[in-house]
Amino acid sequence: MKKLIIANWKAHPATTAQASALAHAVELVLPARASLDIVVMPPVPFLGVVGPLLSRARLGAQDVFWDGGAYTGATSSAQLRSLGVTMVLVGHSERRTHMGETDEMVEKKLHAALGAGLAAVLCVGEKERHGSDLSAAVGEQLRSALRDLPKERLTRLVIAYEPVWAISTAPVDGTNADTPDHAFRARLYIEKMLVSLFGARLARDVRVIYGGSVIPSNVAAFLTDGHMDGVLVGSASLDAKKFGAIATEAARTAAEIVRR
Ligand code: PGA
Repeated sequence: MKKLIIANWKAHPATTAQASALAHAVELVLPARASLDIVVMPPVPFLGVVGPLLSRARLGAQDVFWDGGAYTGATSSAQLRSLGVTMVLVGHSERRTHMGETDEMVEKKLHAALGAGLAAVLCVGEKERHGSDLSAAVGEQLRSALRDLPKERLTRLVIAYEPVWAISTAPVDGTNADTPDHAFRARLYIEKMLVSLFGARLARDVRVIYGGSVIPSNVAAFLTDGHMDGVLVGSASLDAKKFGAIATEAARTAAEIVRR
C-alpha cells in the first residue's frame, strides 16, 4: 500500500488568494503521484479554489456532517463529493475539544461518510502523555466509532493515531514530543483492536497513520521505526517547502522499505 501523506490546513489561511498561492506552491514541490498517496485538506471555503489546482495530490476535507438538509452551517458528504473531495477527517481532537464532538457524533459522521463513498480518516488519541491508558481513551474511541461498521467499507477506512499532547508542539530542534517507539506501541494496540473487531484478513486493509508535530526530520522515523502507513501533518503543511520535504522524505523512505 502506498504511504498516505495528508496536509491538514485547519482554519488557515485567511484569504482565498493565500489559499490558492499555497496550493500552487505545494504542487510545485510534491513528488510524482505514483510514489505516494497525498491528500490536501483545506478549510471548506477554499475547497472549490484549491481542488482544481491539485494534480499531484487529491482533495480532502477536515470534517463532514452526517446528513444534508436542515442543519445550519453543516456540510454533507454529497456536497463535499460534488467539489471533488475523496477523503475526510472525522473526530479530530480539536473538534472533540472545541466543538464538543462526542464519540456518538463521530460514529454518525464516520458511518455517513463511508456510506456515501468517501474515504474517512478516524482520528483517535489520548489526551495526557503520562498516566493515560491507551485502552481507556483510544480503545473507547475505536470501539464506539467502529461499532456495526459494514465490513465492505473497511477498505476506505484509515485510522490516524494522534496523541493530543503531541499535536502542534512544533519541535524545532528535530526532537519530537513523541517517539516512534511509542507510536509503534499505539499502532500495535490499534491493529489488535481492528483484528478483534473485524478479523485479521479485513484488518489488514485499514491503514494506520501518525499525526503529532510531524516535520521533515522526523517523518522517516515514524514510517520506519513507528511502522506507520503514513502521516497527518498540521503546522508543517502550511509551509510548502516543509510539506514538500516531508513528502520527498516519505517517498524516499517508502522506496527503502520496499527494497529491504
Ligand atoms: P500538527 O497537527 O502537525 O501541527 O501537530 C497535526 C494534526 O492536528 O492533525
